This record gives sequence, C-alpha cells and structure tokens, in this order.
Amino acid sequence: MGDAILRVQGLSKRFDSEEVLRDVSFEVRKGDAKVFIGPSGTGKSTLLRCLNRLVEPDSGQVWLGDEEITHASDIDGVRRRMGMVFQNFYLFDHLTALRNVEIGLVKVLKMPRREARDFAMSELARVGMDRFADKYPAELSGGQAQRVSIARSLAMNPEIMLFDEPTSALDPELTGEVLEVMRRLAAGGMTMLVVSHEMEFVYSVASEVLFMEGGVIVERGTPGQIRDDGATGDAGQGAPRQFQRTRAFLRRLDG
Ligand SMILES: Nc1ncnc2c1ncn2[C@@H]1O[C@H](COP(=O)(O)OP(=O)(O)O)[C@@H](O)[C@H]1O
Ligand SMILES: [Mg+2]
Repeated sequence: MGDAILRVQGLSKRFDSEEVLRDVSFEVRKGDAKVFIGPSGTGKSTLLRCLNRLVEPDSGQVWLGDEEITHASDIDGVRRRMGMVFQNFYLFDHLTALRNVEIGLVKVLKMPRREARDFAMSELARVGMDRFADKYPAELSGGQAQRVSIARSLAMNPEIMLFDEPTSALDPELTGEVLEVMRRLAAGGMTMLVVSHEMEFVYSVASEVLFMEGGVIVERGTPGQIRDDGATGDAGQGAPRQFQRTRAFLRRLDG
C-alpha cells in the first residue's frame, strides 16, 4: 500500500434514479495535492462527502492509511483525521474566531483550556488571522472567515485536508487570501484533496488534476499534461485526443 494516505476503490453512489458516482477510484499519497475539476452536478461534492462519511456510498471502499473506513463506526475519529473545508464555512456565530478554533481542541481532543487557547492562537497565526482572534464571524469578511475555518480544521492535526470549492462563495477580491493559505499548506507538505476551478492556483499546486463528468473520472493528468498550450487543441486532423474533454471544459471556464 506504500505511503497512500487515502485510497478509494470503485466508489458508487445513487440518489433515487440518478447515478451520481460511478466506480470512482484513486489514491492520495503523502504530500499530494489532488485537484478535482468538472461541471456542476458531476458528483464532486458527493465524492468528498462520501470520504468523510457525510454521505454513505452504495458500493466501493475507502481506506485512510491502513484502515478501511467505508463503514467505520467511529465517524468522529474519521473526521478528526480528515479535515474538511466547505464552500460555506460553518463557523459558530456566537463564538469568536479564537473560540471557534479552540472548541474542538477542548471538547474533542480534551486539551486543557489554557493549552488549547495557545494552540488555537498559533493555528490562527498560521492562516494570518491571529490579529482577529477576538472578532465574531459577523465581523469578518468571507475570506477571513474561511481562513478561520481552515485553522479550525488544521488544529485537529488531520492527515489529509479536503477542500470543496473553498473560494466559490467569496467575492473575487477575497479569493486570493484563501488560495494563498492553501498554497502555503501545499508547499509545507500538507496532503490535500481539493475541488477548485481557480485554475491559476490549481496549476501551481496540483500534483494531479482529475476531471470528473457525470460521476466518472474521465481524464487525469499533471497540470503540464492537461494544460492546453494552444499548439495542439482539437482543431486539426490527427491532433492528440488526450485530455480533449478536460481542455474543452477549461475553455468553457475561460469563456
Ligand atoms: N442529498 C442528495 N439527495 C439527492 N440528490 C443529491 C444529493 N446530493 C447531491 N445530489 C445530486 O447529485 C448530483 C451531484 O451533486 P454534487 O455532488 O453536488 O455535484 P458537484 O459538486 O460536482 O456540483 C446532482 O445532480 C445533485 O442534485
Ligand atoms: Mg459541489
């Protein structure tokens, strides 16, 4: 199994008559930053939600390290080891930024309060939010709130971080600060699985880009492989057909 942090084999999920995930397989090794892209409604969120057990897959298997977690009973344990950041950061509105980060340390990890406070502060500093420790979510911009929610996940010292379109609910001028935090995490060796269409970011951090359509991983390759350099494309006879669907999608994103 080598140094696979996460291994997904033949994952399928159906909602009523709709097959949302079909036989999805991939693995994430230590230090990888795997990025999923693809049209809306393609099953990307459902995939991430199956991994941390917000959704129960119909078939297939998921391993976290050496442990199969597909039907693990210790869901909280799984979620501690796998941090998840959503499009809409779910912070507690009645708690300060610091308390939002601290609460899991005290309640879940049973860390003494003073130690938890210091540790939470260092996690806030890691995302550049220590100056805002005493602010409530309503006093923060969307980008700042998302950085706090990243700090909250990081504080649990997860083996892998899942990011589901973490900037897609933000105003364009606020996406940069969140992507910068993620870029630093990736550079620091954090293992991550990301859904994002911020392609400049994706090209700079992804160890592999996986293009999903209709619940299937259709094409996958390194940024260098999938990126359309303009020289090939699909215009000419005999042009390479590899990554054609990914490139067509990326052109629609640009357009
Ligand atoms: N809890 C649910 N119940 C029923 N259908 C769902 C549920 N969650 C997602 N779906 C459907 O599954 C499909 C894939 O959704 P999703 O995973 O959110 O796609 P993506 O994240 O790629 O946009 C969509 O058609 C969506 O409507
Ligand atoms: Mg989604």
